[in-house]
Amino acid sequence: MRSNLPIGIFDSGVGGLTVLNAIKDLLPNEDLIYLGDTARVPYGTKSAASVMRYAEQAAAALLSREVKLLVIACNTASAVAVEHLQKLNPEIAVVGVVEPGAQASCLATKNNHIGVIATEGTVNNQAYQSAILKRKPDASVTAQACSLFVALAEEGWHEGELVESIIGECLKPLLDSDCQTEMDTLVLGCTHFPVLKESIANIVGDKVSLVDSADTTATVVKSFLSERQLLNEQKAGHVSFLVTDDPARFSRVAKNFYQGDIEQGEIQQVDIQHFS
Ligand code: DGL
Repeated sequence: MRSNLPIGIFDSGVGGLTVLNAIKDLLPNEDLIYLGDTARVPYGTKSAASVMRYAEQAAAALLSREVKLLVIACNTASAVAVEHLQKLNPEIAVVGVVEPGAQASCLATKNNHIGVIATEGTVNNQAYQSAILKRKPDASVTAQACSLFVALAEEGWHEGELVESIIGECLKPLLDSDCQTEMDTLVLGCTHFPVLKESIANIVGDKVSLVDSADTTATVVKSFLSERQLLNEQKAGHVSFLVTDDPARFSRVAKNFYQGDIEQGEIQQVDIQHFS
């Protein structure tokens, strides 16, 4: 029965655990396999060609374990690889986080002025900008790369004066742009940014709605499985963790992103570079 198969989720490292949390909350009966490409993180500063190759290998590694659906939890990888992976693997549906995030921002905005913060790769690729304009051609979209937030989130620097001052400095170009006078919606277009949500909200103010694509992606996953009678309703789901580097750091840093502890013994180290 295909419905008994797990959902495969991959990310460049730990940040995708924010997407895993949302899927686990909405679909507690599903088995989930999470792959974090910790040996090659960050993807956000790499070229599109490298990210595409890493994504191909991560997808192939998960598909070799038999999954019923592939979720790209990483925004940077979603920005360049969803269509490519879908073409390479027509037998399985591939869901990325950019389209659901763009859709959520279009539903949230009341005045069509949308800001996007993401990694350098995601911003340069124009993925969110295109996905938003496809839905709302008259929207004004301003994107700002905030790669430094990834380190803040991983090191557990989530709040406080210093953190808000760094966030304020990084958001300056966005806040000083014409968009800011009107911006009513800001997309957190990176796996790591939801853990900084409160501090970001303190900087942009309460008139701006923050959109996190993790929840919308989980809803897309649920609808997809439900429409195809692929939901697993049999038992409580189990989560397996695979990483491409030493599990010790993943286990430690995961505490900043995952609801619950992940013991080192639960994490399997795998080599995915021979997959292509
Ligand atoms: N997972 C990445 C993203 O959502 C952030 C970390 C990285 O640069 O690899 O874009």
